[in-house]
Amino acid sequence: MTENNCSCEENNSKNEQLTMDILAKYSGKKGSLMPILQEVQTIFGYLPQTILKKISAETKMPMSRIYGVATFYSQFRLQPVGKNIIRVCHGTACHVAGSENITLALESKLDVEDGQTTADNQFTLESVACLGCCSLAPVVMVNKHTYGSLTPDKTKKLIKKYEQKEN
Ligand code: FES
Repeated sequence: MTENNCSCEENNSKNEQLTMDILAKYSGKKGSLMPILQEVQTIFGYLPQTILKKISAETKMPMSRIYGVATFYSQFRLQPVGKNIIRVCHGTACHVAGSENITLALESKLDVEDGQTTADNQFTLESVACLGCCSLAPVVMVNKHTYGSLTPDKTKKLIKKYEQKEN
């Protein structure tokens, strides 16, 4: 088990310094908004509003433009995510194979709606388009692991394993 002795404040100021380093790296470069947002999201896990304001101030780009990009591309998140991200595929093959019932089962088990994060920040539930392994439909990804041929019950058991990993 590893122990993290850093306080949140230390982490925040470290992350803000990393943001400033990113902004310095792209200073004056055209077309830099996408890579700036991508790198900032890698640090924070999402795009905090305070950081978007900092990007706006440093790059002299209006907030409306930054928000426009951040909300247009699905890769960007404006809200923090849980430790585990559950992606339920709702592509055609998975939809036909019952992905809607899997999402409903997870919403009930985790007490969240699609797109939300649990109160303990352990899980974020989201619907996604085809994950590219339709022959395994219905498919769910948890973090980087893909699980196929699921039923609502199997999915709930799967999530239980991730809950137990926390303890
Ligand atoms: S439709 Fe779900 S993996 Fe393709």
